[in-house]
Amino acid sequence: MISDSLRTRRSFYQIDKNIPLSYEEVSYLIEDITELVPDAFNMKSSRVVLAFGDKHNALWDQIYTCFDGKVSREKIDSFKAGAGTILYFIDQEIVDGMKKEYPLFADQFDSWSEQASGMLQINIWTALTEEGFGANIQHYNPVIDKKVKELFDLPKNYKLMAQMPFGGILEKPDPKEKEDISKRVKIFK
Ligand SMILES: Cc1cc2nc3c(=O)[nH]c(=O)nc-3n(C[C@H](O)[C@H](O)[C@H](O)COP(=O)(O)O)c2cc1C
Repeated sequence: MISDSLRTRRSFYQIDKNIPLSYEEVSYLIEDITELVPDAFNMKSSRVVLAFGDKHNALWDQIYTCFDGKVSREKIDSFKAGAGTILYFIDQEIVDGMKKEYPLFADQFDSWSEQASGMLQINIWTALTEEGFGANIQHYNPVIDKKVKELFDLPKNYKLMAQMPFGGILEKPDPKEKEDISKRVKIFK
C-alpha cells in the first residue's frame, strides 16, 4: 500500500556507503520513476543527476568549499558518508518555451515545474526507502549552483532545486508524534 511506503519514508541523516542495491539497480529505479512521474502539459521539465562514489564525494567536498567553513565539516561529512546523491533540476529552457507556447498560462509554468519536481522528489525518496535505503533532502542551492554545473558539465539553463544524499541506514530517526490531522484535513459528507 502506498501509505505504508510513505510511512517508512523519513529524513535519514545517519547513512553509509553500504547499500542494498547495485549502482545499476539504483540507476534503473531513478530512471523509471522519472519517466513515470507526471508534470503539467506533459512538459517534462525535471532533470536528475545521479552521482555515486567519487563524484558524490567530490560534490560534498565542493559544497563544503562553497560555504567557506560556514557549514561544519561534520555536517557535510554526514552527507558525504552516503553512497550517492540525487540532484534535482528544472530545465528552465523547457519552462520558458511553454510560457511562449501557452501565453494564457505563462505565469503558472514556473510553479508547475516546481510542483512536478516536488512530485519526483517525494516519489524517489519513498521508493528508495521501500528498497531499504536511507535518504534526506538538502538545499544548499543557490550558493552551490555554479560549481555543481561545472562539476557535472551541465547546461546553464538547469536550475538546481534540491540535493538528496542516500545510502545504507546506520540509524533510524525517532518515531513521529501523531498529529491532530483534522486541523489540516477537512472532510465533508
Ligand atoms: C520541500 C522540503 C525542503 C526541505 N529542506 C530540507 C533541508 O534543506 N535540510 C534538511 O535537513 N531537511 C530538509 N527537509 C526535511 C524536513 O525537515 C523533514 O522532511 C520534516 O522535518 C519531516 O521529517 P521526516 O522527513 O523525517 O518525515 C525538507 C523537506 C521538504 C519537504
